[in-house]
Amino acid sequence: MGVTGGIAAYKAVHLVRLLIKEGHDVTVVPTEGALRFVGLPTWEAISRQPVTTSVHDDVARVRHVALGQNADLVVVAPATANTIASMAAGLAGDLLGTTLLATEAPVLIAPAMHAEMWRHAATQANIATLRSRGVHLVGPADGELAGGDAGPGRMSEPEEILAAAQALLAPGDLSGLRVAISAGGTREPIDPVRFLGNRSSGRQGAALAAEAAARGALVTLVAAHVDAAVLDAVEHPSVVVVHVGTAAELAAAMKDASASADVVVMAAAVADYRPREAADHKLTKAEGGLGRIELVENEDVVAALATARSQGRAPAGQTIVAFAAETLPDADDRRERARGKRERKGVDLLAVNLADAEHGFEKSHNAVEVIGEGGAVIAEASGTKRQVAGAIWNAVLGIR
Ligand SMILES: Cc1cc2nc3c(=O)[nH]c(=O)nc-3n(C[C@H](O)[C@H](O)[C@H](O)COP(=O)(O)O)c2cc1C
Repeated sequence: MGVTGGIAAYKAVHLVRLLIKEGHDVTVVPTEGALRFVGLPTWEAISRQPVTTSVHDDVARVRHVALGQNADLVVVAPATANTIASMAAGLAGDLLGTTLLATEAPVLIAPAMHAEMWRHAATQANIATLRSRGVHLVGPADGELAGGDAGPGRMSEPEEILAAAQALLAPGDLSGLRVAISAGGTREPIDPVRFLGNRSSGRQGAALAAEAAARGALVTLVAAHVDAAVLDAVEHPSVVVVHVGTAAELAAAMKDASASADVVVMAAAVADYRPREAADHKLTKAEGGLGRIELVENEDVVAALATARSQGRAPAGQTIVAFAAETLPDADDRRERARGKRERKGVDLLAVNLADAEHGFEKSHNAVEVIGEGGAVIAEASGTKRQVAGAIWNAVLGIR
């Protein structure tokens, strides 16, 4: 565990305790800066391991590479702006730097700094570089910062960092799978203030993303107008959220994400049609443009993704799951329609749910049937959307 020179270093003491309580062997590698905040004896006492900060200590055991080579996970908490920049540049000026270059284990960082430092283009570019190399992030949280300021930059709480570390250390049954999930409802502009939309809240898609990440998958969540509160529940080092607005934007983002995804789940409600033209000014009654809006058909995203797969523009063995919200009150009728849809679209699984006043959209609970090969109902699930998500992932694993 790397500790760097921020006020939050005192909270890292608690994190070391938590990791040890969970049974992990922790070697603390503080920077010189970190030792200005919490002294070496504290780290040695709390971790019950010798602690050094320089590459010139304990040279006989080649600690500068051995620590990284032997680690199952490297956590940097807090990660200062300075250390994040060093990591992005690949600097090896101290024991933490050499350890980070020598390790092939997952790396998890918990950034902590003032909001201005976090928002700075240099820090954001460094974070993007680290993400692109597969470094996992937890936080930073939005909240009170040292010196009475507030904003994004506060280190995540030790319990949250522990959970992210545990997820990386104990891979779940979706470990290593890259998944692309769409969630929410698209909006097709009529004019600058109006749109054609739908009632999808994105909760089921968000639950699928959270469940997949908790079980070890690397998730790209393409979110169309999903509330921040719903997305909060998906915050996880392995989830990247891509925000989109219209059906065309969603199609482009999903094609992009699906090109390298092992599993694709289309849980978003995508508009079938859009106004032929979006007016560049607010339409008025007097103009008469509102009473009659001409619509043109949008691309069928699910069918397009299935076609991409059949043409080899997706990883071999990709699984595609689609959703159908149906208002037909009779379960047999819904099932029949879902079977037809599954065939037509060329997907592996189709999760069909009843959408009425009590079920489906905007609700925390859901009930689905999963239609598979030959139109068979291979899974049924009802409960919270997270429970339903669990059942859907089980069904996906069952056919892979
Ligand atoms: C009181 C105090 C608090 C600091 N807190 C932070 C912080 O939270 N985040 C940060 O990036 N830098 C912080 N700094 C600045 C770093 O200590 C400084 O950039 C240092 O060079 C970091 O070195 P390191 O990354 O090798 O530990 C703080 C400095 C002081 C004096």
